[in-house]
Amino acid sequence: MSNNPLEHLLDFLGCATPQAWIDAALKNPSLLLVDHANCEKKAASTALNLMYRYVEHHRLLNKLSRLAREELRHFEQVIAIMQRRGVAYPQLGASRYAGELRKQVRTHEPGRLIDTLLVGAIIEARSCERFAALAPHLDDELGDFYRSLLKSEARHFEDYLALAEQLGSADEVAARLPTMIAREAELILSEDTEFRFHSGIPA
Ligand SMILES: [Fe+2]
Ligand SMILES: [Fe+2]
Repeated sequence: MSNNPLEHLLDFLGCATPQAWIDAALKNPSLLLVDHANCEKKAASTALNLMYRYVEHHRLLNKLSRLAREELRHFEQVIAIMQRRGVAYPQLGASRYAGELRKQVRTHEPGRLIDTLLVGAIIEARSCERFAALAPHLDDELGDFYRSLLKSEARHFEDYLALAEQLGSADEVAARLPTMIAREAELILSEDTEFRFHSGIPA
């Protein structure tokens, strides 16, 4: 593992965010913030769902409880920025991204748990990569905020991956990951009708 967490997750992901997505994000700053707020909220609720389903794993409960609290703090930070900037918070449909990734999760335990943790690791890694890709193009407040999120999202990525390896095995993770990562790269590199934080190339 590299000492630089960003380097490790760039190696982990199958592709970088395309410039066309970055351009679309810069053209839709309000939409980006609204969907970012939704992502933080969903990250917290995904962690909470796992805490309800897997009460027998103490380490998972502890890690994911902390993670959920951090995601909710991020959520509060995003809505504070939205408030200051006068960005309205409409209901917004989810992007295809997480739903498509979850289609690869096995339906029987313990495979279901391992795969769900791996999907968590992938989503955290992509979020982190996108914050890094966006930060240099944003105003100071948002750029600093996204750079500050990098650290926690990189840690979340490591936590999900470590949990998958501990509760499954390194061999199982190595066997499952390539297909999941290839599918993720497809979602990032193919045309997508809706612009969202995790969307593909704007159609
Ligand atoms: Fe977050
Ligand atoms: Fe996170």
